[in-house]
Amino acid sequence: MTAAQHTAAQPLLQVDQVSKTFGVRRGLKRATVHAVDEVSLVVRPSSTLGIVGESGCGKSTLARLVLGLYPVDAGDIRFAGKLLPRTGKRPRAVVEQMQMVFQDPYSALNPRASVGGSIAFPLEVQGVGNAEVRERVAQALEDVGLHGNYATYYPHQLSGGQRQRVNIARALAMRPKLIVLDESVSALDKSIQAQILNLLQDLQESYQLTYIFISHDLNVVEYMSDHVAVMYLGQVVETCGAEALYHQPLHPYTQVLLASSPSLEVTERTTAPEPTSGEMPSPLDPPSGCRFRTRCPFAMPTCATTTPVLAEAAPGHLVACHLYPSSQPAAK
Ligand SMILES: Nc1ncnc2c1ncn2[C@@H]1O[C@H](COP(=O)(O)OP(=O)(O)O)[C@@H](O)[C@H]1O
Ligand SMILES: [Mg+2]
Repeated sequence: MTAAQHTAAQPLLQVDQVSKTFGVRRGLKRATVHAVDEVSLVVRPSSTLGIVGESGCGKSTLARLVLGLYPVDAGDIRFAGKLLPRTGKRPRAVVEQMQMVFQDPYSALNPRASVGGSIAFPLEVQGVGNAEVRERVAQALEDVGLHGNYATYYPHQLSGGQRQRVNIARALAMRPKLIVLDESVSALDKSIQAQILNLLQDLQESYQLTYIFISHDLNVVEYMSDHVAVMYLGQVVETCGAEALYHQPLHPYTQVLLASSPSLEVTERTTAPEPTSGEMPSPLDPPSGCRFRTRCPFAMPTCATTTPVLAEAAPGHLVACHLYPSSQPAAK
């Protein structure tokens, strides 16, 4: 059973064995980056799936694949049960129902467009009529806690937090079901971060929104998420409910991540490994077998030869690691 098939009925988003490579130049040679490698995820309606992992592990690429901003090399993405094309144009309803809020609130807004113009633009592109555009812009500003006057402001007149509110308003105005938040609060000061996170939670409740919340910051992911997926070098190595992940992490990489995150207390961990130092290997040349083995305190000979599969080690708790018998690939 794959991870995508595993969880409850009627997910809003199902990502099944999705892969994406990029061709890059390495000196004079051409090389391939395995940015996202056979990733499977399930996101249930009105819930938040957090995605964590170090920089370069493929989080943004995965987000872009979900949003249809990159063609998918292999695997399937289903939205509300409907299989989406791997390449080319998606149905208009799907485009509207999936929105993204990017990390950088500065570059995400056109400096020459007013706030109202920025929020209206994607609506106009989708052919929404003028009166409705005006109404939706006003409603979206109100929803993110900005006075209607802000419609006439320009990005340079706004603070970082206000700009991110505008980006959220722009996504909301499309009346989406799913919003992908890629490091959306990472550039903000801590106090502003908290305000935006609370705003996102309020909006989720008001509009039954579904979020994919991407961050390298384990604390904000814990605060926001119902379920969490941990990525390492393009792969999901562990996924389960947030509570289980933060209190009983199973994958050595997750344990290391939590142990090196100072303000998190991991209570019920019995096998606390020493935080592994060392750089993440290059995605141009990932290790054989388990990709984490070169930094893993528990690495065994089999880790170099056999790739562990993501499978259920405890109810609802999937992990890809040879420490757990469930991760043995089925004999061919
Ligand atoms: N457009 C691209 N062309 C070539 N390589 C890319 C491209 N986008 C991402 N990558 C590579 O794919 C890997 C994953 O990147 P990314 O998805 O941005 O990771 P994250 O968001 O987790 O930091 C990295 O090695 C990155 O250098
Ligand atoms: Mg990123």
